[in-house]
Amino acid sequence: MKDDQNEKGDSIMKIFIDSADLDEIRQGFAWGVADGVTTNPSLLKKAVERRAKAGEKVDLRKYITQVLEVAGGTPVSLEVTEVTAEKMVEQGKRLYALFNPVAGNVVIKIPVNPAFKDGDATHFDGIKAIRELTGGGIPVNTTLIFTPEQALLAAKAGARFLSPFAGRIDDDLRGKRGVKFDKSAYYPAAGTAVNGQTLEDNGIVSGVDLVEQCVEMVSIYGFEAEVLAASLRNPRQVREAALVGAHVATLPFSVIQDMLKHHKTYEGMALFTADIVPEYATLK
Ligand code: E4P
Repeated sequence: MKDDQNEKGDSIMKIFIDSADLDEIRQGFAWGVADGVTTNPSLLKKAVERRAKAGEKVDLRKYITQVLEVAGGTPVSLEVTEVTAEKMVEQGKRLYALFNPVAGNVVIKIPVNPAFKDGDATHFDGIKAIRELTGGGIPVNTTLIFTPEQALLAAKAGARFLSPFAGRIDDDLRGKRGVKFDKSAYYPAAGTAVNGQTLEDNGIVSGVDLVEQCVEMVSIYGFEAEVLAASLRNPRQVREAALVGAHVATLPFSVIQDMLKHHKTYEGMALFTADIVPEYATLK
């Protein structure tokens, strides 16, 4: 039985920790809930700054090495920061050569389209970089996916993971309503209507809808790529990502904790612990 399969051989949704914080990653693995880790430049900056604030001088190479060791052979995504295909490939190969020997678990994260500034990169640089890295045997996690067609091109280029950003699609849709919102608050998978019209982004009505469409596309064509639901911000969104068949969900540590919370669980615990027959607790 593989770790990600049950006894019938069905796949089970994997949970990655969406964090570069070593303490959180340690806890996630110690609790036995983590199957991998995803990092991005913002998460790494946050983790390093937190340690620096606590007076620690962080040696980034050693720090990332520790993350890889703690993850114990499960996939750890390290993102490139360059934007042209040539430089992303060069950086991806360098990161892989430097860190994959630690535990054999490095996945290089490549943006599906790095052309955020005119002149810096073309719309095709991400796909070119994915193809070249995967062709050379380096596994790729394609990041910043906001449409199933971006996922399709990344899958065709050989990506191992496709990361649709569910929460950020929800942010975008909520932003269109022009009302203030809490980014971690639940947004309905079925979308919301304004004046009788469902808010949508090119046919996508929610982050979970984006995940579902990516899963369907991967399944129809039998791609080996796994849909890694990213930018998940609350337990109900995780539930829905699981129900639409995401192969992986990457979760902030706080969301993993929140998944275990329920007021009736606390109430039940208070009642059960108050009702213990003294002899019961010491039965031998
Ligand atoms: C993980 O791969 C992504 O970088 C991450 O989930 C983004 O999450 P955010 O939209 O909450 O920043």
